[in-house]
Parts: sequence; C-alpha cells; structure tokens
Amino acid sequence: MKKKIAILPGDGIGPEVMRETLRVLDCIEKVFNHSFDYLESEVGGQAYDRYQSHCPEKTLKICENADAILFGSVGGPVAEQQQAKWKNCEINSILKIRKHFNFSTNIRPVIIYPALANSSPIKNSQSVDFVVFRELLGGIYFGRHERTTKDNQKIAIDESYYHENQIKQIAHAAFNAARSRKKRVHLIDKANVLATSKLWREIVMEIAQDDSEIELIPMFVDNCAMQMVINPAQFDIILTENMFGDILSDLGAALSGSIGMMPSASLNSEGFGLYEPAGGSAPDIANQNIANPCAQLLSAAMMLRYSFHAEEEAQAIEKAVKKTLSRGIATRDIKKEKPASTSIFIDAIIEALS
Ligand code: IPM
Ligand code: MG
Repeated sequence: MKKKIAILPGDGIGPEVMRETLRVLDCIEKVFNHSFDYLESEVGGQAYDRYQSHCPEKTLKICENADAILFGSVGGPVAEQQQAKWKNCEINSILKIRKHFNFSTNIRPVIIYPALANSSPIKNSQSVDFVVFRELLGGIYFGRHERTTKDNQKIAIDESYYHENQIKQIAHAAFNAARSRKKRVHLIDKANVLATSKLWREIVMEIAQDDSEIELIPMFVDNCAMQMVINPAQFDIILTENMFGDILSDLGAALSGSIGMMPSASLNSEGFGLYEPAGGSAPDIANQNIANPCAQLLSAAMMLRYSFHAEEEAQAIEKAVKKTLSRGIATRDIKKEKPASTSIFIDAIIEALS
C-alpha cells in the first residue's frame, strides 16, 4: 500500500520520539513492502517560533492532504506558560486540530505488559487490559469559556455542553468495540450532580436497552477513580465524556507503569484519524535521548490498524514492544538500573522486526 502520513512532531520530547518512530515505520515499509510518504509540518511552540501561530494554515493543509496524522506533543515548561510562545498553545494547536477534523472519538488502551508488572503501582496487575473511549469534542473543553468581574471580584466560567448526537456517536463506537471483547461497557459520569451526565445516562441506557449482547454498568467518576486503583481488572471498555476521559486516561496510563506507554487514536465519523501519545511533551527530559518512545510508536501501530487496516503490521509493532520489554530493555521511566536510551530501545525494536 501507498500512504501519505502528516508528521507533526511538535514540542518537548515530540521530535525525538517521532524521529525514532519513523525509523520503525521505515522498517515496516521494507518488511511488508509498503510505501509511506512523510509530510512533515510544524505545530505548537515549534510552529509559533516560525509562523507566530501554534497551528498555521500550512499545517492544516498538509493534514488535509494526508491519509492519517501522526502527532507528537505540544506545550512548554510550566514556568514559561505566560510567554507568547506557550500561552494557549494546547488550545490553539491540538484542540484546534481535533475540532477542525471533527475527531470526536478518542481511544486509549490501557495494557500492563508482563515485563512491566513491577513498574505498575498496583499488585496483581496481569489481568489489566481495558480501553477508554473518550468523547473528544464536547463538554467543558468546548463550551463557553469566560472571564468577568462582579463586585470587584474576578469570576471565571466554563460551560459544559453536550448534544445527544455526540453521545450516541461515541457510545456506538464503544459498544461495537465491546462486541469483540468482553461485551461489557462501564459508563462513567457524575449523574448524581451534572445535567450533562444525566443526559449521557439517559442516552446510553437507551442504546443498551436495544443491545442485549452488551452489559452496561453505569458508575460515578469519583468511584471509578477509586475502582481503577483497587480493582482495575473489572474494566474492559470505559465510555466517558471529554474531561473525565482526560483524567481517567492519565490514571490508566499510570497503572501501566509509565505515562510514556499510552498511545491514542482520535477518529472522525469518516474514519480519518490522528494518532498521538496520551502523555505530554515532557520538556524537562527533552533532547536527552532518554524519553520513552513507546506511546508514540504504539500510536503509529494504532494508525496502521485504524487508518490503514494493516492489522498484521500493527501487531508486529505491538509484539516487538512486548518482546523488547521482556528482554529487559526499557527506558529510564521504567527501568532504574541500566536503562536503555530512546534510540537503543528503538534499535532493539527494529531488530525484533527484521
Ligand atoms: C490529552 C491532553 C490534552 C487534553 C491537552 C494537551 C489539551 O492532556 O490529550 O489528554 O486535555 O485533551
Ligand atoms: Mg490528558
């Protein structure tokens, strides 16, 4: 197959984990006889330096012309958030791209690799294997954000908004995924308080009533956070709104031993997708060749699966990651003694694939 891939490395560790991931895609290209055309462009602070925009028109055009988008990460150091380069960087880049392409379904798998059982903060972690389906274009992220003053006091308002179609769309995606898994969906909400959550429950319960194959388990988000720590093996598919999905997926990533392990896929209803690590840009460890490239690499595997329907190729990467970790080769976030550098880890992946 011949595919054009938009490559947006971005900030922090983005460029280095992207570079290493492309070495693996080059290898997949050879082994499976494909042709990948990389269309690289700037995003985030990286784009701001050159275009005074966190997401220039040129970057959107390149994405529009591609078969899929492979995204690194955006954002700068906490101490520099007020500088123009970083101010509203995430809103103007990744959130803008999600909106532009209508990426409403976000998929984040949580797997604990056997070799990482000791890195996981929880005991008996072997059977943890669940997927978070996070709605990506609604809720408090995309509602009205406002600042005012009243009686000389500063006030901020963030509005949370959901339309029933947004809920239906991701609910169907989650239910369909459950069909080829354990046929169980946990709906995570705060329906004892929030109007949006009450709507979610109403709509998703209606869908479940018409779908006798899938068991629906509604759960409040605070309880879910606790359950994820005390008994994460109970989860198979987690279906939730934007903000809860953001928070719970970081918790899930921590269960897997490192935030550097978690990939993600963001899809629109036409099946076009953006693939990005679920963790941040980690500016504190950038440019040292120590970052964990797994989240980026596993995001590329998700791209092969969801955008290119190349299941065998996706599995080849996932198996290579598993094999490399089980050989005791891992980056510093996972392995304290004699860790591998980012590039040495990728050398081992390529060796496993060739
Ligand atoms: C994520 C990130 C983003 C989000 C940030 C960078 C805006 O945390 O993809 O989880 O909150 O969605
Ligand atoms: Mg997040």
